[in-house]
Amino acid sequence: MVRLGFITAALAATAFAVPSPALKRATCTAGDTSTTDGVQAILDSTGAIDWLDLMLGSFTDGENNWVTALWQESFPGQGASPLTGCGDIGGDCAPDSLCSNYPSEMAYWVFRSVGNLHSKINSVRQQLLWTGWLNGLSIDQIHDDFTAVNPEPSWLQWVSAAFTMAGGVATGIDLSKPLRGMIGFASGAFNEIYNQGSSNVQVDVTSVENTLRNIVGAAGNYVATVLTNATGNGDPETLPIYTYTALQHATARFFDDNTILLDEKKDNSSFISAYSHFANTVEKKLVDVSMKTAYHILFADQNLAQSDCNMKGAYWLQAKPGEYFCFYLIRATAGAQCSNNDSTSCKFYDSPYGPRWDTGVYDKLTNTYGFDLQVYYTSLIDCYLNGKDQVDLTATTNDGQIPRCFYSLKLTNLQRNLHLP
Ligand SMILES: *[C@@H]1O[C@H](CO)[C@@H](O)[C@H](O)[C@H]1NC(C)=O
Ligand SMILES: *[C@@H]1O[C@H](CO)[C@@H](O)[C@H](O)[C@H]1NC(C)=O
Ligand SMILES: *[C@@H]1O[C@H](CO)[C@@H](O)[C@H](O)[C@H]1NC(C)=O
Repeated sequence: MVRLGFITAALAATAFAVPSPALKRATCTAGDTSTTDGVQAILDSTGAIDWLDLMLGSFTDGENNWVTALWQESFPGQGASPLTGCGDIGGDCAPDSLCSNYPSEMAYWVFRSVGNLHSKINSVRQQLLWTGWLNGLSIDQIHDDFTAVNPEPSWLQWVSAAFTMAGGVATGIDLSKPLRGMIGFASGAFNEIYNQGSSNVQVDVTSVENTLRNIVGAAGNYVATVLTNATGNGDPETLPIYTYTALQHATARFFDDNTILLDEKKDNSSFISAYSHFANTVEKKLVDVSMKTAYHILFADQNLAQSDCNMKGAYWLQAKPGEYFCFYLIRATAGAQCSNNDSTSCKFYDSPYGPRWDTGVYDKLTNTYGFDLQVYYTSLIDCYLNGKDQVDLTATTNDGQIPRCFYSLKLTNLQRNLHLP
């Protein structure tokens, strides 16, 4: 109802515009952009996006080049638009910040949305192309603690998933709901890079750093297309759209999102927080890969009762409904004759909790790399029982925070010929 009212009002305003709208000045009410609720109130009360939708319908070229068209419509006789770079990274896109300089409040909020989007996408891209975070990863330490790892194309899956996971942790949103704002742009870009497959990203099998940099950088470059497509220079139909599908134009539906006008400082601080969780999650996953390469396995000991499952690093956990085992890590011994690089096929394993099996591995996992062992084991058990060897973002463990098979250390419940020292 409210929205319809504004569409009517906007139509009326367009139909009866005075010949020289340059003289017309908006009367503006203050708006609070420090929260998404505040932004929503602005969008609802001004009808800015409904107005944008109508304007897009009125342009000869429709959504093509609409920022320029809207500027010319809003500031007739004032020469060329100064907003020539709104679709480009690093381009000129600084809309006038004084509402009373606009012909309407609606125009003011729409241009301000464009300026915000431009600035936010520039920041997200810059952050994703920044390689400093790689120095913070303990790649050499992981090598020393377990073994060296060689990147492969499948890494694209988990690196992408790691960002979405991190976004969920940073915002407290479980993975079944879309992430929005700057985190959402980045997460969408990672998903796209993952969907496009490894043909577009160079996987350097000799360098963990290069491979991570290439994957994250590809997401950073993809993010730039959000800006291009949203500002009339590309296809708006593929943009991430979350709300109000009654609007006619994809561009308007895209801008009808209460995170775009949200203050950038605030949006940026959740994004940076997601980014640091991301680096941390990537590091944990590298540990998982490295342990797998070093033939560690999660072992389900069928011979131990719950009361005896009290060794360091051992957890009594449910495998299937009603079926509990004592879970702990084991490791193939040197020369264990493992076939096909499969850690569950090895002939000999070090006796767990024996003299050759240093329980210090658990301290490394928890203290150095920040694992919660119970959460880690639980996700491995879920992957083993329900997974298909692929990261699956549609199923999760740990309150929706870890996608199925994000971690993929192997698990066995077979009785093994444990190598006694
Ligand atoms: C932008 O449009 C191009 C096609 O023109 C498409 O390949 C790309 O995925 C789009 N990006 C977004 C974020 O919509
Ligand atoms: C986002 O936050 C990071 C870290 O605090 C900072 O380096 C960066 O300049 C911020 N970007 C913007 C656009 O505020
Ligand atoms: C085992 O792994 C090594 C190194 O990753 C690889 O070169 C070799 O082909 C693998 N062997 C099998 C049988 O998969």
